[in-house]
Amino acid sequence: MISEKEYKARRERLAKKLSKNSVAVVFSGEFKTRSNDTEYPFRQNSNFYYLSGFTEDNAALLFVKRKKKVQTILFVEKKDEKKELWSGKRVGEIEAKKLFLVDKVCTMNDFSSKLKESLEDKNSLYYDFNLQYNKVKTLKRYSKKIAHYKNIALLVHEMRLIKSKQEIRLIQKAIGITKDAHHSAMALRKNGKYEYELQAEIEYIFKKNGAYSDAYTSIVACGNSANTLHYISNDKPLVDKELILIDAGCEYEGYASDITRSIPVDGKFTSAQKELYNMVLDVQKKIIKMIQPNVKRSDLHKKSEELLCKGMLKLGILEGKYRKLLKKEKHKKYYPHGIGHWMGLDVHDEAPYKDKKGKEIPLKKGMVLTIEPGIYIDKDDKTVPKKYRGIGIRIEDDILVTSKGYKNLSKKIAKSILEIEFISKT
Ligand code: GLY
Ligand code: MN
Ligand code: MN
Repeated sequence: MISEKEYKARRERLAKKLSKNSVAVVFSGEFKTRSNDTEYPFRQNSNFYYLSGFTEDNAALLFVKRKKKVQTILFVEKKDEKKELWSGKRVGEIEAKKLFLVDKVCTMNDFSSKLKESLEDKNSLYYDFNLQYNKVKTLKRYSKKIAHYKNIALLVHEMRLIKSKQEIRLIQKAIGITKDAHHSAMALRKNGKYEYELQAEIEYIFKKNGAYSDAYTSIVACGNSANTLHYISNDKPLVDKELILIDAGCEYEGYASDITRSIPVDGKFTSAQKELYNMVLDVQKKIIKMIQPNVKRSDLHKKSEELLCKGMLKLGILEGKYRKLLKKEKHKKYYPHGIGHWMGLDVHDEAPYKDKKGKEIPLKKGMVLTIEPGIYIDKDDKTVPKKYRGIGIRIEDDILVTSKGYKNLSKKIAKSILEIEFISKT
């Protein structure tokens, strides 16, 4: 759990960034309708959660800044017995005042009037420009006289780039549960089963361990399906002698994990699969070793392209001169995505990759990113040796940048062929 003190410190850091005579609004998430009277599971707005730790919908945080002094007000839904009978208990304003270290707690019923009042002598209003919520429309109605509109999301995203010790602990916890889920999938007898059965096993382990949601829709892709990068139908049979690409990670107290392993259906890699797998694994290990402060993510990506291109050439997947192949980006046909992304409250964490001047932000202590090289060879690609066709491999770990280098937060998840085959024995 993140302490109340840390949430307060985050709000104070944000408050310092706000301009004088301004108001900032951060809304909670909203339920989304699935179909008549039915809603998708609720997911809190990441920026609101980052600043409050509050998990309810229909809530908002207001920052009112005069000169240097800032008042923080949390708005919560008013308690209502009839409503609570249907959708569960609400914290309410009295309890919220005890739980959260904000200056004031009000109910959402007072939001419009308080907002109007606080906007009277202000010249800037911060809110999240990307939100499509109805509440944002109300906001605009009350703030017609405001001189400057500013995007609060940019300030919060910047803060989210560097993770605190408490955040790293939660990410590590999410990864620990994800480890159990992947190991369970490896150990399961897979012959005669379907991809969705493996998915169910993985997500069962998530929930059983207190991670009530996945961090993204799990990918369980057997054989050629692994060559569809965003394969989520997970509805095909598991076929002996094929590899299954499993990209699955849970969310724990709001924090993501994002892990991919490629494992054999019958517990044994074929020799062609071994050749491809070890090539990708070797690249992944080399890229992880490069991680340290001041290295750029684009350097990591460039190196991964070079190493994979060389590997493809060595295995006869590409033919020709290395320099020319690289220049013509021939490897992109088989490695079309990036080396990785920031990870935190969102699996693709909404933190910036460039600074205000458009310059790439180099790695710094406390950042968390994924490293996920892959190779994808379609079953019908006649230009590639037959033994490699229909194989898709990705190996993905979650890495923390430290003061001197890195810590692989997912290093306990079986990754070498030896480790995977050992666990897979049934
Ligand atoms: N699971 C999404 C990704 O690897 O980026
Ligand atoms: Mn990823
Ligand atoms: Mn992934």
